[in-house]
Amino acid sequence: MEVCSISARLAPAKPIFGLNSRYLVRRRTLTTSYFPCRLRAGTASQENEKSESSEPANRMFVMGMGFVGSFFALGLQSHEWGVSGSCTSLVKKKKLEEEMGFDVYLFNANEPELEVLNILNHHMHLIVSVPPLVGIGDPMLQHEELLKSMLMEGNLKWLCYLSSTSVYGNCGGMWVDEDYPVRPANEKAKARLAAEEGWLKLGHDLGISTQIFRLGGIYGPGRSAADTIIKQEPLSELQRMRASRQYTSRVHVADICQALRASICNPSSGRIYNVVDDDPAPRIEVFSHAWDLVNRKWPGHMKQSVSPYMTESFTTESICRGEKRVSNARIKEEFGVRLLHPSYKSGLKSIIDHMDNPFS
Ligand SMILES: NC(=O)c1ccc[n+]([C@@H]2O[C@H](COP(=O)([O-])OP(=O)(O)OC[C@H]3O[C@@H](n4cnc5c(N)ncnc54)[C@H](OP(=O)(O)O)[C@@H]3O)[C@@H](O)[C@H]2O)c1
Repeated sequence: MEVCSISARLAPAKPIFGLNSRYLVRRRTLTTSYFPCRLRAGTASQENEKSESSEPANRMFVMGMGFVGSFFALGLQSHEWGVSGSCTSLVKKKKLEEEMGFDVYLFNANEPELEVLNILNHHMHLIVSVPPLVGIGDPMLQHEELLKSMLMEGNLKWLCYLSSTSVYGNCGGMWVDEDYPVRPANEKAKARLAAEEGWLKLGHDLGISTQIFRLGGIYGPGRSAADTIIKQEPLSELQRMRASRQYTSRVHVADICQALRASICNPSSGRIYNVVDDDPAPRIEVFSHAWDLVNRKWPGHMKQSVSPYMTESFTTESICRGEKRVSNARIKEEFGVRLLHPSYKSGLKSIIDHMDNPFS
C-alpha cells in the first residue's frame, strides 16, 4: 500500500455526504483525526466560534469564493462544517456573509494579507480556486516562501487546487486520462499547468495531502447554456469559436462538489483527477437542447424560432486539432463517484426545472 507522507490511518469507510461507503477506496495511511469524514454535531455558528480555538477539524477555507467555491461551501455548511473563504470585493463579501452566512475575508493574492493567512491556519482543509494570470502565473504562488513559512506551523492537512482540462492541449479527439501527456496549447493553459506544479510542490513541502482537480467547463444553476439562451444576445466571438468544437468536456457544479467531498474522505498525496461528465458533446448540440427546453417550458418568449446555434454556420477548421475527450474513470474508480448529471441533458433539465420564470 502506498504510504502517505503524513503518518496516520484512514477512517473506516462509512457513508458520508450521501456517498456509498463501498466505493471509498483505502489508498494510504491517514489519520481519522486529520480527516474527520463523519459528520459532527454542532451548529455552523458554534463552529465559527471555534475559529480561534485548537479544534480546526471540519473547517474549510475556500480561497476564492466564486461559483464553485460558494456552491461547495453551502453544501458543507449544511453538513455542519465551519466554512470561511475569501473574495476580492466588498460588495461580494457582504453578499456572501449576509445571504449565505459565511465568514468571508477580503483577500487579493497579489498582496496577501497576513491576517487572512493566519486565519487560514486555523483550518484543516483548503480549496484554491483563484485562477492563474498570463504573465504573472498563480497569484498566490508569487508568494510561495511566505505561504510556506506561514502555513508550516498551521493546521492545514488537505488541499485541493481547482485546475482545468486545458492543460492537456490538443489531443486530436483522443480520450485522455490523467496519465496522458500534458501539452498546454496557449499561455493561459501553460500558466495553469505551472500553477498545478507549484501547488503540488508546496503541498509536498508542507507535508499535506494535496490533490489537483482538472475541471471541464463548469455549469450549474445561474451559469449554463439555458441562462445564456434566455439572455437572447447575439453570440460572442468566443462563443462562435467554441461552437466549432466537436467535443467539449463539461461538468455540473454539483458533481464537482461530490468529487470534492469524496476526496476529503479519501485524501491523496499529489494525485490528479479529471472532473468531467460522461458526455463531451459539442456546444451546438448543448445550446440547441437548452433552447428546446426553455422554449418548451416558457413557449412564445424566444425571439427566434430556433436556436441561433442552428441558424449560423461555424468554421469547422479547428475540429480535431484542439479536441479531446476527457475521461472521468479515475473519480469513479477511486472515489466511487456516481455522477448526478452524467450528461448535459439531465444537468440542464434540473436547472430549468428549478428556475423561476425568467420572462415574468
Ligand atoms: N469556468 C469554467 O468553465 C472553468 C473550467 C475549468 C476550470 N476553471 C477554474 O476552476 C476554478 C473555479 O472556477 P469558478 O468558475 O468557481 O471560478 P470563479 O467563479 O471565477 O471564482 C474564482 C475566485 O477567485 C477569486 N480571485 C480571482 N483573482 C484573485 C486574486 N488575485 N486574489 C484573490 N482571489 C482572486 C475570485 O474573487 P471574487 O469572488 O472577488 O471575484 C473568485 O472568488 C477557477 O480557477 C477557474 O478558472 C473554470
